[in-house]
Amino acid sequence: MRQVVISGTGVFTPDEIITNEELVAAFNKYVDQQNELHADAIAAGEREPLEYSNEEFIYKASGILQRYVMDKSGVLDPNQMYPSLRQRDDDEPGIMAEMAIKAASEALKSAGKTPDQVQAVICAASNHERAYPAIAIEIQDALGIDGFGFDMNVACSSATFGIQAASDMIRSGSADCILIVNPEICSGHLEWRDRDCHFIFGDVCTAIVLETQETATSDNQFEILSTRCLTQFSNNIRNNNGFLRRSRPSGTDDRRDMQFMQNGRLVFKQVVPIVSDMVIQHCQDEGIDPTSLRRMWLHQANKSMNDFIGRKVLGRVPEPQEQPNILQDYANTSSAGSIIAFSQNNQDMAADDLGIICSFGAGYSVGNVIVRKTA
Ligand code: COA
Repeated sequence: MRQVVISGTGVFTPDEIITNEELVAAFNKYVDQQNELHADAIAAGEREPLEYSNEEFIYKASGILQRYVMDKSGVLDPNQMYPSLRQRDDDEPGIMAEMAIKAASEALKSAGKTPDQVQAVICAASNHERAYPAIAIEIQDALGIDGFGFDMNVACSSATFGIQAASDMIRSGSADCILIVNPEICSGHLEWRDRDCHFIFGDVCTAIVLETQETATSDNQFEILSTRCLTQFSNNIRNNNGFLRRSRPSGTDDRRDMQFMQNGRLVFKQVVPIVSDMVIQHCQDEGIDPTSLRRMWLHQANKSMNDFIGRKVLGRVPEPQEQPNILQDYANTSSAGSIIAFSQNNQDMAADDLGIICSFGAGYSVGNVIVRKTA
């Protein structure tokens, strides 16, 4: 069986940052406007007033301090509260392709690969900006890659499921080298007018190069020892937007369920045991003592959630470098989160050190990738 390695990664980070302070100020202005607009209905007891958000709650509940976004002005405008993204011509790169090309160029450079050495592109993300043609094919064309490309979506687990798909394809001989990109424009599906979730997401794009061990020349390689994916249906994270929207009764355009919705507390309670049990079981099935993992690059949704999982898997409180968090800077970037953590925190690993990339989220879905540092 051919051995597969991760030979390069890249991260495209947008230029604009929204701090918690800016976010809360804009949200609270929106609350004032709405409560004034509906003052009569509120006074008559026909409508509940909206409540303020606050920075202390956000940091304490999530560990998030700021997020990067593709457009800050629209999100912070209390009369809009969503990003303004320019409509592009069909003849120019779409916004997801543009982000992905930047992340991919960095990943290819770090892997020491040129586009002619890549045979496939997978665009694995929580949302895709159009139905077709696949974003992956647009990226493939822009980079000058022969072969094939396709899009896939497993929400927050898209990247790890993409790694499993790519690594299986390389093992079986369908391709020698595959580029995976995860352009996540979470600001587009987040309901910025809902204080329960308005702080959660940010935008980013990650890219990963996977190839056979024989072809890899990078000086920073991680052998993929084993992957494992699990899905279990749940409505606790859901978005009802989709291509049948036009066929439904009018008035659906601005309906709450056309954006991200979640029962955060229940997600926390249900997902933590599924993930920690799965990581422990997966390691044991591979003959690996989970406490010997040098690093856990976990999905970046909530710091306390990661602390719980790290403690359960290692049997003690992990040192910060053993379970790096990036969500204080990036917030939740859906499938890209664990890949940013991996990309920014793997250079100090020694040969034969073991680690796990682990994602979890809507579906529910959980994806594990156990790696060993080689070169
Ligand atoms: N500012 C101030 N108060 C807020 C607030 C805000 N922005 N948002 C919610 N609150 C209030 C709530 O109304 C609630 O008030 P109540 O006790 O009077 O009812 C209280 O704070 C607690 O809210 P709750 O939603 O239960 O907080 P929490 O501690 O569960 O934290 C999450 C919320 C979303 C951060 C947390 O549940 C979480 O991260 N869950 C996991 C989600 C996840 O991983 N999802 C995957 C997404 S891809």
